[in-house]
Amino acid sequence: MKIFVRFFPLLLVFCILGCSSVDTPAHILHSPAKFTTIEFALDEHGVPVYTVFFKGDTIIRPSQMQFEFKDQPAMRGNMKVVDGSIERVEDNWEMPWGEKRYVENIYNEMVLDLMERQSPRRSFSIHFRAYDDGVAFRYQFNDQRLVDSVIILEERTDFNLKGDHTVWWIPGDWDIYEHLYSTTLFSEIDATTKRDHPNLAATFIPYNAVNTPVTMKTENGLYLSFHEANLTDYAGMTLAVDTSGMAMHSLLVGSDRLGYKVKRALPFYTPWRTIQISKTAAGLIESDLIVNLNEPSKVDDISWFVPKKYMGIWWEMHLDISSWDLASGRHGATTDNAMNFIDFASANNITGLLVEGWNTGWERWIGFDDREGVFDFITPYPDYDLSRVVAYGKDKGVELIMHHETSAAPRTYDQQIDTAFALMQSLGIHSVKTGYVGKIIPKGEYHHGQWMVNHYRRVLDKGLQYNIAINAHEPIKATGLRRTYPNAISREGLRGQEFNAWASDGGNPPEHLPIVVFTRMLAGPIDFTPGVFDISLKQKPDNKVNTTIAHQLALYVVINSPIQMACDLVENYEGHPAFQFIRDVGVTWDDTRVLGGEVGDYVIIARQERETGAWFVGGITDEEERSVRVHFDFLPVSRSYNAVIYRDGDEAHYRDNPTDYTIENTVVDSQSERDFVMRPGGGFAISLNPVSK
Ligand code: NOJ
Ligand code: CA
Repeated sequence: MKIFVRFFPLLLVFCILGCSSVDTPAHILHSPAKFTTIEFALDEHGVPVYTVFFKGDTIIRPSQMQFEFKDQPAMRGNMKVVDGSIERVEDNWEMPWGEKRYVENIYNEMVLDLMERQSPRRSFSIHFRAYDDGVAFRYQFNDQRLVDSVIILEERTDFNLKGDHTVWWIPGDWDIYEHLYSTTLFSEIDATTKRDHPNLAATFIPYNAVNTPVTMKTENGLYLSFHEANLTDYAGMTLAVDTSGMAMHSLLVGSDRLGYKVKRALPFYTPWRTIQISKTAAGLIESDLIVNLNEPSKVDDISWFVPKKYMGIWWEMHLDISSWDLASGRHGATTDNAMNFIDFASANNITGLLVEGWNTGWERWIGFDDREGVFDFITPYPDYDLSRVVAYGKDKGVELIMHHETSAAPRTYDQQIDTAFALMQSLGIHSVKTGYVGKIIPKGEYHHGQWMVNHYRRVLDKGLQYNIAINAHEPIKATGLRRTYPNAISREGLRGQEFNAWASDGGNPPEHLPIVVFTRMLAGPIDFTPGVFDISLKQKPDNKVNTTIAHQLALYVVINSPIQMACDLVENYEGHPAFQFIRDVGVTWDDTRVLGGEVGDYVIIARQERETGAWFVGGITDEEERSVRVHFDFLPVSRSYNAVIYRDGDEAHYRDNPTDYTIENTVVDSQSERDFVMRPGGGFAISLNPVSK
C-alpha cells in the first residue's frame, strides 16, 4: 500500500512568506507511530543537514551530507530544495527461508530534490525513511546536463553523536572483518593501535575508523547500531571516528590501483545509511530494518536450495590432522573420508557435506604472490572421486556443498565460474562455499572496495543463473541483499570458530558471540560453524574453545543461518548424548523471539521451526555466571510441549570443566517459567515438541 503526498507547493508558500536566502524551514519526517523523526534543513551555507530524534530525544545532532568528486568541484553546499514528497508505505513480504516467515515493512519516506543555486546547478535527491525501529537515508544522483558519470573521491556523511556512548567495535579494516570486538567509550576508540590480527589480509589504514555494524548504548540506555543496506556497485563504508568531536564520518573503502572510491554512470543510488534504534538490546536483533531496505527477490522460486545442517572435511585441517594439499602426504579430501562422513551425516539427520581441498592447486594457495590461474575449480585430486562421492551422498540423502577457494584471485574465478557452476549443476550440487584468503590480486584492490563488491555480486548473479546458493568467506559484509538474492544464504565476515583452532591470542573469548549477535548478526546470517564437542582440542595443546558444550549447542539457535555446520570430527560426536540436540535442531524458522539479552553479556533466543512447529531455545553467557528466568509464554496457549533441556552441569566452567552438562526431560506450556544457571562461558539449549493429543 502506498499513499503519496507531494508537499513542495506548501513549502513554497512558506518561503514566499518568510524565507531569506536560506531555505530554513525544516522538512520533517516521522515514522508511522512517531517513534523516530528525521529533520532535514540547509544550513546558512546551503549545506544539507539532517538530525534524528527518538521519542523526542536527539539521537543524531545536526550532521552534514557532502560529496567530493574527481574532475569536478565538490558538492559542499549552496543547495536549495526544489521539490519534495512524502509517502507512506506498507509492503509486507515473505522470507523464503530465515528467522521468520512474514516480514512487515512499514515506513514513511521523504524524497527531497536538491539543486545548486549557481552554475553548474548540479542536482541530487535524498531519500529518507523513518521506521519505528530506526532511520535510513540514501542519495540519488540524477541525470546531469553534459555529465554521464561521476567519480567519487569521498562521501562525507556525518553522524554527530549526542554523548559519549559505550561502543562495541572492530577496526575499520578494508579487507577483513575477522577481529575481536573492543568495548570502550566512544571517546576511547583507538582503532589504529588495536589490531589483533597479524595474519591473513588485514589492512592497516591510517585512520581511526570502525567497521559496521557498530553498536552503541547511550547513557539513557538506548541502543543504536550504524550500518548500511543494499550495498550495490559502490564501495563499502567504514566510519571514521572523531573522539573529541563525538562524531563519525563516512570513510569509503578505496582502491590504490584506481585512485578513487566509486565510479558510477548516472543516474544511480548510493547504499542506504542506516541507524537502528531500540529501547532494548533484544530489539536490535528483532528489527528487520536492514533486510527491508533491499529490493524484492529477483526470483520467484528458490526451492532448489534447501536449508540444512552440514558436516565437513574441514575442522580436521584447522586442527592440523590433515591438509588441503596432496603434496603434504596428509590429504584430507579423499573418497573414503568423504564417504565416512556421508555415512555418519545420513544416520544423524544432517543433509549436507562440505569437502575442502578436493581440487588441485592447494600447493600454491597461500603465501604466493602469483595466485592467478592456480585453481580451476573442476579438477579433483586423484584420490578424490568427485562423481562417486556425489552419487554416494545422493543415495544417502546428503548433498555436497562445493568449495571454491579463490585465494583472493577473483579474475581467475570470474574466468572459470561458468565452467565451475556448470559442473556443479550437472552433479546436482546447489550450494558453494567460496573463499578469498589473502591480499586481493590485482594489487591495490581491497576486499571491501567497489571493484570487489561488484565481483561478489557477479557471483550471486551467476548463482541465480545456475541455481547455486553462495556462502562466502572473506566476503563483503551482509547488507540485507538476501531479500533480493535469496541465494545469498550465509557468509563469514567475522572471527569464526576456526580461530579457536589456531589463533595465538587464546582464541575467541566467551563474550565473543554475546557481542556478535548484537553487531555482526544484525547485518545477516553467519556461517560461524558451531558444534565443537572436544572443547579442549586434544590435537592442539596450545589452543582450546572458550565455551562449555551447552554454549556450543545454544549457538544453533542463537546464530541465524539457513546452513549450520556440525563442525567437529565424527569421533567426537559418536555416542555423545548431547549430539541429540544437533540432530533435532531446525535451521529455518516461522518465528523468532529474543527473550532477553545485553550486548556483550548474554542473549536468549527462541525460534519456531518451519514445517514441524517445534520450538528451540538457546541461551549463552560471557565469562560471567548468570541466572536467567525463561517464560515460555511464546508457546501457543493450551498446548503442552515435551522439553529436552541441555544445560551446564553445576560445576561447568569454560576454562577447566567445559564438558560438564546435564540433560533433563520435562513438560512445559505457555504458563511455565523456569530459571537457568548459565555457568561462566556457558549456556543452555532446549528443544520443545508438542505433546501429541
Ligand atoms: C578461510 C575460511 O574461513 C576457512 O573456513 C577455510 O577452511 C579456509 N579459508 C580455506 O579455504
Ligand atoms: Ca576466514
